[in-house]
Amino acid sequence: MAVKDVMDALREATINNTNLSELVKDIKLVGKTLEIVYKLPNKGMEEVLVEKTREALESVPDVEDVRVRFVEDVPARPVMGAPMFTKRRVPGIKHLIAVGSGKGGVGKSTVSANLALALSKLGYRVGLLDADIYGPSIPTIMGVKGGRVEVDQNNRIVPLEKFGIKLLSIGFLLPSEDTPVIWRGPMLMKALTQFLFDVNWGELDYLVLDLPPGTGDVQLTLAQNVHMSGALVVTTPQDVALADVKKAVAMFKEVQIPVIGVVENMAYFVCPDSGKKYYVFGKGRVAEFATSYGLKILGSIPIDPELSETSDKGEPVVASHPDTDTAKAFVGIAKLVSEITERRQRNVFKESG
Ligand SMILES: Nc1ncnc2c1ncn2[C@@H]1O[C@H](COP(=O)(O)OP(=O)(O)OP(=O)(O)O)[C@@H](O)[C@H]1O
Ligand SMILES: [Mg+2]
Repeated sequence: MAVKDVMDALREATINNTNLSELVKDIKLVGKTLEIVYKLPNKGMEEVLVEKTREALESVPDVEDVRVRFVEDVPARPVMGAPMFTKRRVPGIKHLIAVGSGKGGVGKSTVSANLALALSKLGYRVGLLDADIYGPSIPTIMGVKGGRVEVDQNNRIVPLEKFGIKLLSIGFLLPSEDTPVIWRGPMLMKALTQFLFDVNWGELDYLVLDLPPGTGDVQLTLAQNVHMSGALVVTTPQDVALADVKKAVAMFKEVQIPVIGVVENMAYFVCPDSGKKYYVFGKGRVAEFATSYGLKILGSIPIDPELSETSDKGEPVVASHPDTDTAKAFVGIAKLVSEITERRQRNVFKESG
């Protein structure tokens, strides 16, 4: 039983539109007792949080008892009138692109990895950073599971390289998948921001950043401290109606990271026999959402069993099956991302020049 199962279960449970997983400050499994420390969003919510937690964990095997503690939530968000945060640029990186989502499991890591490959195919120098401290999956998708990184003579981390992409995952630094979140929590979050700057990335046109799902502390800390060219928000038709995706868009806005656009994942299914398209989770929903928020849809990825299979095997579809419609959809997204980011950069230069 991994702490990840617990986090997955907590991610499914919400309280006032916030996933329980986002409130976790520390989590540890001692024998069959799970010890959780929550940051308390509001006083008086203790009891209902405990109840929701127990409910959420009923289906998780091997957890027999749950102990919950609370600490008061210190707002990480900037408040009106507060001093502005300073954002640092990662040296050598032309464009840092964050890939976020309101909710887990919508295909963020799949999109990050294939977007990185598609940008590389277009001739750009590309890196991929897996910042998902709760469930790093880039090592699996890119076929470098169990990889370890070394440091150079200047004490900088040397990323791995696969399919021509520079790769770094928090997974390369954790002793094992079952490492408790106490090592993945605030301490690691701080380390993550720090280590972005202590990596020998070389010169890159694009660094794609796979964020953890949701709008928790990791996302905010990174977004407030690191200069990013823009963000992509991944959603699926069945999740777009949820408040989560709106929260993700609002978060990027709040920390002044322009949303480049929305990627609609699992948009439709093409029947292999008839070639007919089926909009399994509804048609037009993501477009409706994007329009109402003034956002652009960068592309729609079909439900493709092969996409999932190639990811599990560590042979991402853009690299292994470049002629499929799915791979072409990712290249289309990469083209738009590069056009938009480069146009913006030219405009910034024009304004400042
Ligand atoms: N278009 C698709 N068609 C079929 N399967 C997909 C598609 N997109 C993603 N998947 C599969 O769905 C699962 C979740 O995808 P992924 O890990 O990319 O999501 P995520 O948003 O990064 O999840 P998490 O919140 O856990 O980080 C994976 O098994 C992946 O292979
Ligand atoms: Mg992921």
